[in-house]
Amino acid sequence: MNMAGGVMAGVGVSLFLCCCVLVVQGSTVPRPNIVFILTDDQDVVLEGMKVMNRTKRLIGDMGATFPNMFVSSPLCCPSRSSILTGKYVHNHGAVNNSVDGDCASKAWQDGPERSTFATQVKTAGYRTFFAGKYLNQYGFPSTGGPGHIPPGWDWWFGLIGNSRYYDYALSVNGTKQQHGKLYSMDYLTDVIKNQSLHFLDTVGASPNPFFMMLSTPAAHSPFDSAPQYEQDFLDWKAPRGGSYNVYGKDKHWLLRFAPSPMKDTSVQYADSIFRKRMRTLLSVEDLVQAVMTKLEDQGLLYNTYVIFSSDNGYHYGQFSLPEDKRQLYEFDIRVPLLIRGPGIKAGQTITDPVMNIDLMPTIIEMARGETPADVDGRSLMPLLLSTQTETGGPEWRSDLLVEHQGEWALHAWPKYNCPHWWTLVTGCVPDCVCEDSYNNTYSCVRALSKRANLMYCEFQDDENFKEFYNLEKDPHQLNNAINTTDPNVLNFMSERLKELVACSGKTCSYRNEQILVT
Ligand SMILES: *[C@@H]1O[C@H](CO)[C@@H](O)[C@H](O)[C@H]1NC(C)=O
Ligand SMILES: *[C@@H]1O[C@H](CO)[C@@H](O)[C@H](O)[C@H]1NC(C)=O
Ligand SMILES: *[C@@H]1O[C@H](CO)[C@@H](O)[C@H](O)[C@H]1NC(C)=O
Ligand SMILES: *[C@@H]1O[C@H](CO)[C@@H](O)[C@H](O)[C@H]1NC(C)=O
Ligand SMILES: *[C@@H]1O[C@H](CO)[C@@H](O)[C@H](O)[C@H]1NC(C)=O
Ligand SMILES: *[C@@H]1O[C@H](CO)[C@@H](O)[C@H](O)[C@H]1NC(C)=O
Repeated sequence: MNMAGGVMAGVGVSLFLCCCVLVVQGSTVPRPNIVFILTDDQDVVLEGMKVMNRTKRLIGDMGATFPNMFVSSPLCCPSRSSILTGKYVHNHGAVNNSVDGDCASKAWQDGPERSTFATQVKTAGYRTFFAGKYLNQYGFPSTGGPGHIPPGWDWWFGLIGNSRYYDYALSVNGTKQQHGKLYSMDYLTDVIKNQSLHFLDTVGASPNPFFMMLSTPAAHSPFDSAPQYEQDFLDWKAPRGGSYNVYGKDKHWLLRFAPSPMKDTSVQYADSIFRKRMRTLLSVEDLVQAVMTKLEDQGLLYNTYVIFSSDNGYHYGQFSLPEDKRQLYEFDIRVPLLIRGPGIKAGQTITDPVMNIDLMPTIIEMARGETPADVDGRSLMPLLLSTQTETGGPEWRSDLLVEHQGEWALHAWPKYNCPHWWTLVTGCVPDCVCEDSYNNTYSCVRALSKRANLMYCEFQDDENFKEFYNLEKDPHQLNNAINTTDPNVLNFMSERLKELVACSGKTCSYRNEQILVT
């Protein structure tokens, strides 16, 4: 293998965003295949992986588990856009789940969508396959309809709109295919599984490497499980303890507004959502197992990277919010990440703070493709292939940015008792509790290293509200320590936040040794 990086644009911009081109010279080991499984709304803090024993055994135990994986924004479309582009929200511009917030919009298509891991691995010679949920506004007339196949994809089974299990339409290579209510024909997680197996049967054994992205509706609403799992976990309840049903007295406006304690009906609803979400994930277990078995049967597993992650976390009653995401707290911003594949030692736990924006450069490096110089994330390959076991390799990042632009909805007011038309109600069965508002707009620095374990947030609201947590002392973020923390620490975090909200490319991600708070 020859690295011809010296002639590529972007050289000298960054050491770790290595731009290189593979010159194939009859190398004996073929380039690896890559399978990326992305779930929807699957948390990790509130037992989101509880039923995923097969996934843990087949992927995590055979490679690396990342207990400190964060998203750039705790909402589907902004996070997915970060996953695809390797960029923070302020750099890709998809700020919410609407077309006018650039979710799958024309502006997105003309800009960021032209430079994703799909385009880069395709250019590197991979055959590419996508099945499942793409971006919330994908496939509607306002975003080009089902005829728009995002660049880079050869086999395309893109779900039109947001996650559903039945009664949805797919764009199959650009042609609309309607699905109904029949489990054996229509259940989306199984359709993704069957199409994946068909793809592997068709092209798996041919010499060119492939990249597959399998993007499940589970565990997103409407939480329809396969019939064989409907009676599982009947006595399970959402996790208690921590911030469960705690009034967010010293938190930002939306949390102070949430009725607390929750009504019994909300408690029961959150518990039923928990059970339903777990059941939908059992079909993801089936998908993972079927794909891994097929790869093994075809003799491909030894040379295939498999990545498993989710787009954002979830909550069930934390700070008395019955169910949703969109909050800055750990349960919404942390997600699972498991990676196995050639050169990755089995049974590793890699504790460095990693992010959704790292997946794009990681996938491109796996494919020995070219990472654009303006990507904000960093390839995880140096962590995956090294033998380092402790947090904080010499130059890995020690903090990261989380950004959210609060959503609002006209229909939420006044009929759902939200205080204003710019609050958004999500779960409304049986009680309507506002889960987002226009002024739930924030940016946060999450510092995580041996020197500090902190969260500092600034809101764009009428109060210029701020929150600060030392998670070493207060892991459940119960007490907003903004008034009791050394002003030097707060100033430092505030300055760092200013840098991060304006960062681009390599300035987004470096090791910051100046702060020490224990
Ligand atoms: C998963 O594994 C745990 C312990 O390893 C076990 O207690 C649990 O019953 C298993 N869950 C399922 C759904 O198999
Ligand atoms: C979709 O396109 C790919 C690539 O051209 C092709 O191989 C595959 O058969 C098509 N699938 C369907 C269902 O049309
Ligand atoms: C998936 O394939 C299996 C085996 O052929 C079949 O029994 C099942 O009905 C298929 N499911 C869907 C949703 O297509
Ligand atoms: C911090 O102090 C200000 C001014 O006394 C007060 O208004 C605010 O409620 C306090 N915030 C918290 C989180 O304790
Ligand atoms: C989404 O973001 C755009 C751009 O900031 C804004 O105009 C729109 O109102 C937002 N939509 C919702 C539902 O919050
Ligand atoms: C947030 O918006 C609501 C609804 O308009 C308003 O009542 C409240 O005062 C705002 N709070 C802050 C802190 O901006």
